[in-house]
Amino acid sequence: GIKVVTIGGGSSYTPELVEGFIKRYDSLPLRELWLVDIEEGKEKLEIVGNLAKRMVEKAGLPIEIHLTLDRREALKGADFVTTQLRVGLLKARALDESIPLKYGVIGQETNGPGGLFKGLRTIPVILDITKDMAELCPDAWLINFTNPAGMVTEAVLRYGHIKKVIGLCNVPIGMEMGVAKAFGVDHSRVRIDFAGLNHMVFGLNVYVDGENVTKKCIDMLANGEGGNDPKNIKSIAWEKEFIKALGILPCPYHRYYFKKSEMLEEEMEALKKEGTRAEVVQRVEAELFELYKDPNLAVKPPQLEKRGGAYYSDAAVRLIDSIYNDRRDIQPVNTRNNGAIKGIPDDSAVEVSCVITKDGPKPLNIGELPVAVNGLVQSIKSFERVAVEAAVTGDYNTALLAMTINPLVQSDTVGKKILDEMLEAHKEYLPQF
Ligand code: G6P
Ligand code: MN
Ligand code: MN
Repeated sequence: GIKVVTIGGGSSYTPELVEGFIKRYDSLPLRELWLVDIEEGKEKLEIVGNLAKRMVEKAGLPIEIHLTLDRREALKGADFVTTQLRVGLLKARALDESIPLKYGVIGQETNGPGGLFKGLRTIPVILDITKDMAELCPDAWLINFTNPAGMVTEAVLRYGHIKKVIGLCNVPIGMEMGVAKAFGVDHSRVRIDFAGLNHMVFGLNVYVDGENVTKKCIDMLANGEGGNDPKNIKSIAWEKEFIKALGILPCPYHRYYFKKSEMLEEEMEALKKEGTRAEVVQRVEAELFELYKDPNLAVKPPQLEKRGGAYYSDAAVRLIDSIYNDRRDIQPVNTRNNGAIKGIPDDSAVEVSCVITKDGPKPLNIGELPVAVNGLVQSIKSFERVAVEAAVTGDYNTALLAMTINPLVQSDTVGKKILDEMLEAHKEYLPQF
């Protein structure tokens, strides 16, 4: 049997993960699931943990669910460790999303200044987890969902105490689901060659039953069809001619770069109407935890679909299943580039289609990205690398450098103002500065 440890186990997403494990139990014999959280998350851990217990009981499966605040105890002898923690909770996310807006800059969980600060808060915590893993479960895989997933994977690859790390996001699987829906076929018949970075990934080629349908997909997207945006991103339509000229599928997050002004305007309006996305999510969470408390509930409630993490359990469990069973199927994950995408350092994290083996993901050979997008991808990779350095060193100047080279920030002077305000706002979670 397998032992899985989920750090940030008190998250409202946990029933999603548990459902995934239940569905795949036949090929992935999970024996123990350890849900770990911190003192502040104790109550949520209790509630969601008890729901997890009812779910496996209802499914009639011999999976043990353990709830603990003792991370080191949980990690002993783990086979897979998943991370879904949020340093500073949604309160910190609300600051990431609102402070940049005061300076006319997009406020977003994983992009721009918000993404930088989420990285600065999160990276030291994740590196600390890898230290514990090296000691307590050196053979385990770390599957990281914690955002910014690309930057966090980059940090673990270059500064972590373990080698076996994979970053995972639901955006690629969501794009595949969009194509499946548009073609009226099951998801298993769709394959997209993905390449780029997390929340900066492109679909280079699309196949349905092995037939190349990329051109058809581009035409559909140009007409506003076949997209599948997560709940957290407003589906503002693309310009037809732009999509046709681009010739590859952008991901929903590309709107923050290719539709900067419309997204900024949209955020400003949303702020007045409903608050930041973090505040919207806080309300959804309150509703979810009320439902989770019901002792008669023993399945994932449909209300969880109001979150952006659709298909997250499918992505996670199919990945763990393919490693465990050495399936050698193709899945998009964040892993060490190793020459797959030309022009990105070998030791950097990329989000790319990989063959998934028992020894981990082996990226497909992508070559150079199309010239129209290569520059942006390179810029974001530079930003991520400098941001990781700032997170590890706590150096102010390096943090300002990261802030300023981010394409969403208009100048070093504006960047410095945002940096200073955010360093102050988040100081409780930034001991390295
Ligand atoms: C997408 C992204 C995730 C992100 C989520 C936010 O699914 O891939 O990385 O965490 O959206 O959703 P939320 O409901 O928290 O706004
Ligand atoms: Mn993601
Ligand atoms: Mn310092």
